[in-house]
Amino acid sequence: MVKILGISGSPRKSGTEFALKEALKAAEEVAGVSTTFVTLRGKRIEFCLHCDRCIREEKLYCPAHEDDAMKELYLLFAEADAYILASPVYQMNMSGQMLTFLNRLRPLWPLIKDGLLKTRVGGAIVVGGTRHGGCEPALLAINNFYNCFGIIAVTGGHEAYCGGTVWSQDRLAEGVKEDEVGLKTVRVMGRRVAEVASLIATGKQARGGN
Ligand SMILES: Cc1cc2nc3c(=O)[nH]c(=O)nc-3n(C[C@H](O)[C@H](O)[C@H](O)COP(=O)(O)O)c2cc1C
Repeated sequence: MVKILGISGSPRKSGTEFALKEALKAAEEVAGVSTTFVTLRGKRIEFCLHCDRCIREEKLYCPAHEDDAMKELYLLFAEADAYILASPVYQMNMSGQMLTFLNRLRPLWPLIKDGLLKTRVGGAIVVGGTRHGGCEPALLAINNFYNCFGIIAVTGGHEAYCGGTVWSQDRLAEGVKEDEVGLKTVRVMGRRVAEVASLIATGKQARGGN
């Protein structure tokens, strides 16, 4: 099975979670794909302190904040074949919750260094309250995270240039449900992440696992 991990960076059970679930449903239509939904809502995630203990001690978790919610998330992230990161747009960027989570992935540096993420793919979804209120910079920020980690950023191609882009009109999940155009970009991107991840899995198998 190709495993896709979807993570919502919204503090609310609302539009971003709804959009992410739509993308995961579209991804599951591809044969051999399974998905896991995770929300950062209600999770305690401390800031990265840049103490570099994770790097020096070669730990695949953060020794400075051993007891926060990241503990379970490191393993989920390390074991997935593909990612869909979904965030509300906050000040034309991803949410602080999502950025803090991504900063805290620093202990996974050994995976990057050893090239273990280079065949993984990732897609992005953002949900903004204002039309043209910063969705594209927010998508770029998420796709730049993939670039930093050596993960291949997958978008929706000509149907969703930078990824899934939804306009909620600040009306929670109800507003998201009304944005049919936006939801199409989410579904197209979700399916494409699954298709590319699945093609890579087939190629790796043919090459004996690498
Ligand atoms: C701190 C904060 C900053 C925001 N900044 C923006 C923004 O720059 N552009 C925008 O379109 N919407 C902005 N919004 C609105 C949210 O992106 C919008 O309501 C979104 O649908 C929330 O997602 P949710 O339903 O998953 O919580 C902001 C909301 C908050 C709380």
